[in-house]
Amino acid sequence: MSDSRQDLAVHWFREAAPFINAYRGRTLVVYVCGEAIAAAGFAHLMQDLALLHALGIRLVIVHGARPQIEERLQRRGIAFRYHNGLRITDEQSLQAVKEAAGAVRVEIEGKISLGIRNSLLARQGVKISSGNFVTAQPLGIHDGVDYQYTGIVRRVDSAAIAGLLDDDIVVLLSPLGYSVTGEVFNLSGGDTAVSVAAALKADKLMLLVDGALRDTAGAPLRDLTPAAARDLLAAGQIAAEAAEALQVAVRAAEQGINRTHLIDLHVDGGIVQELFTRDGIGTMISVSPYDVFRTAAGEDLPGILELIGPLQSGGILIERTPARIEADLEKFSILVREGTTIACGALYPYPAQRTAEIACIAVHQDYQRSGFGDAIVNHLEQRARALDCRTVFALTTRAAHWFIERGYRRATVTDLPPDKQAQIDPQRNSQVLLKDL
Ligand SMILES: CC(C)(COP(=O)(O)OP(=O)(O)OC[C@H]1O[C@@H](n2cnc3c(N)ncnc32)[C@H](O)[C@@H]1OP(=O)(O)O)[C@@H](O)C(=O)NCCC(=O)NCCS
Repeated sequence: MSDSRQDLAVHWFREAAPFINAYRGRTLVVYVCGEAIAAAGFAHLMQDLALLHALGIRLVIVHGARPQIEERLQRRGIAFRYHNGLRITDEQSLQAVKEAAGAVRVEIEGKISLGIRNSLLARQGVKISSGNFVTAQPLGIHDGVDYQYTGIVRRVDSAAIAGLLDDDIVVLLSPLGYSVTGEVFNLSGGDTAVSVAAALKADKLMLLVDGALRDTAGAPLRDLTPAAARDLLAAGQIAAEAAEALQVAVRAAEQGINRTHLIDLHVDGGIVQELFTRDGIGTMISVSPYDVFRTAAGEDLPGILELIGPLQSGGILIERTPARIEADLEKFSILVREGTTIACGALYPYPAQRTAEIACIAVHQDYQRSGFGDAIVNHLEQRARALDCRTVFALTTRAAHWFIERGYRRATVTDLPPDKQAQIDPQRNSQVLLKDL
């Protein structure tokens, strides 16, 4: 290897290593559209997916089959009928959908079985499994038009999928759903991927797109919030394929998926670059928890109590009576999703000392390790800055390291405002953590 290639490899490995570590054991849903299967880079794409699996990522692949279905219909002289932009699937079209989905599935299974060419991992192989994990129901009759075998996802058997992932098996899903009456329905691949990702509480959803997402000046769009994505869609300036994928990403955000990435299917190694390099190559649509914290109000009391109750009785958080929390509600910031309070924290200012206590940080168990803890602390620090505080502090018995990793340092009770010192229960033996703002 030449020196420059060696330097490049070392540089790349150093950059990728933290990401490799961070993604191990995380769940990733990748939507491989039919265009990606027909594209020249398909074999490489499958190798890259096998690589992600080898790196310990829990991988679910949902595939599309639109060009493959259309090709079959064309050969038979049948055209897909649309109403209001939605496909109507009659008996003949359904036959083509089943054939195309079957052919694509086998193609993916074949190529991924190659594993990672020229690598020691190739011998290890990749186990991949499909199944009836998606229950569908008919889209039904709209404006008097019967969509027949066009369906929508009714339910995802996330436990069965998770079981396979636990066994180190890649799960492959076709854009087909099965009804309780034994019928097969044609589903939108993108929407299936969203439903599966939401049901699995996946860490990321990746959508392969025919072309990169660009602004009107032609520059690639790297980061978008769902709101910015909606504005772009409303302005109607995005190419049709990318717009469709962006709509899927917005729906994903609405369903609670924090990060969806759109990746140009024509970029060789696009998924790998997006995941393992700092700048990535695609467009990330991320729900920023920073935007959505709000100050608690009266109706939020039950949600806060439900979230912190078990932590208080477990001795992890200090005991506060409901009456005390109610009196302090305006000190609490919360994040509510689908009616559940998923994160909370409180800020108790000490204006005379220009400091504030960060307290009662809690993240719902189902949402931990997604950055919400980080986000609430950041949000409270911002509130403290707005109050002209120079420092913030926290008292904790179990999360000292968590705070230290977020820029806090160990301090002592004597560093705290006298009013606070007077309230401290020495029995708890809490550690004091302090941060300069
Ligand atoms: C501590 C807590 C708020 C973190 O919330 P979160 O949303 O999971 O946090 P983030 O996603 O920002 O960070 C997760 C990281 O912190 C680590 N972490 C979680 N709890 C920790 C603790 N007590 N000590 C050290 N690290 C901890 C996780 O392992 C994870 O790191 P990893 O991804 O490298 O494994 C959450 O675990 C919680 O509600 N705990 C119970 C209440 C509590 O202890 N509150 C703090 C006292 S005020």
